[in-house]
Amino acid sequence: MSMDNNIVVFGKGGIGKSTISSNLSSVYALQGLKVLHVGCDPKHDSTLGLVDGELIETFMDKYTRIFGVRDHAELKPSDLIVKGRLGIDCVEAGGPEPGVGCAGRGISLMLEALQDLGVLKEGGYDARVFDVLGDVVCGGFAAPLRKGFAEKIVIVVSEELMALYAANNIAKSVKTYSSNGVYLAGLVANLKDGKVEREKLERFAEILGTRILEYVPRDPAVRKAEFARKNTVVEMAPKSRFAKSIESLAAKILAVRREDCPIPTPMDDRQFYKGW
Ligand SMILES: Nc1ncnc2c1ncn2[C@@H]1O[C@H](COP(=O)(O)OP(=O)(O)O)[C@@H](O)[C@H]1O
Ligand SMILES: [Mg+2]
Repeated sequence: MSMDNNIVVFGKGGIGKSTISSNLSSVYALQGLKVLHVGCDPKHDSTLGLVDGELIETFMDKYTRIFGVRDHAELKPSDLIVKGRLGIDCVEAGGPEPGVGCAGRGISLMLEALQDLGVLKEGGYDARVFDVLGDVVCGGFAAPLRKGFAEKIVIVVSEELMALYAANNIAKSVKTYSSNGVYLAGLVANLKDGKVEREKLERFAEILGTRILEYVPRDPAVRKAEFARKNTVVEMAPKSRFAKSIESLAAKILAVRREDCPIPTPMDDRQFYKGW
């Protein structure tokens, strides 16, 4: 039976979204779930760890190459999806070269194409994991929320103020689009400093009306896996602290229910900067 979890991982650039989301996809796949992993960052590196270090052809490149000559209706899902390790279906939105054009448009186009081809249809996957850049206030980045594709929103933060600022902004979009059925499942604290006081983060989560789902430790195993460009940490170092925390997070995300997630209560900018 399909569980149909649509999970969207948001967060500031460089915070650890691709690392965490690709490891989440691997955990689910290792558990035998059917997984779709969609990279929605123009950096197009979300699926790197899932396809043995290959940069897959992005949707935007395919769009110019195939869609220009063929009608939308003639396309099959396999035209857009690349099979990754562990049987994970991978899609990478891609985007224009830095400084040229709008990356958000690519994300919207990709989601529309995936929808038209039935890839987002209920029952198709047990888990769909979307990895979305979240420090840009741009319609494209909110597309997964706007169209009602998303369901469970997870925001990756660290103890750094700007990461929390981005998270507060993302919570504003979740609030705006909550009538589409999206809800804030919780925050993931990917700490830079292991000794950091957790009270501040707990307080932040409480103000937003949400919770910290998991504290993910800094772990050298992450860098090792990244440099090996082959495996995600949960495969390469399943006993590492990082892998254990992702396993725990993966289970908590599946267990979160809409009823447990009130509409978020983000701060306005004045309140945010004033301190809390
Ligand atoms: N928990 C962690 N421990 C060690 N390194 C990490 C951890 N989380 C992220 N990193 C490193 O931080 C960098 C940015 O992570 P990435 O997942 O690419 O961020 P994002 O996708 O949010 O831009 C990467 O080089 C990654 O290896
Ligand atoms: Mg990334």
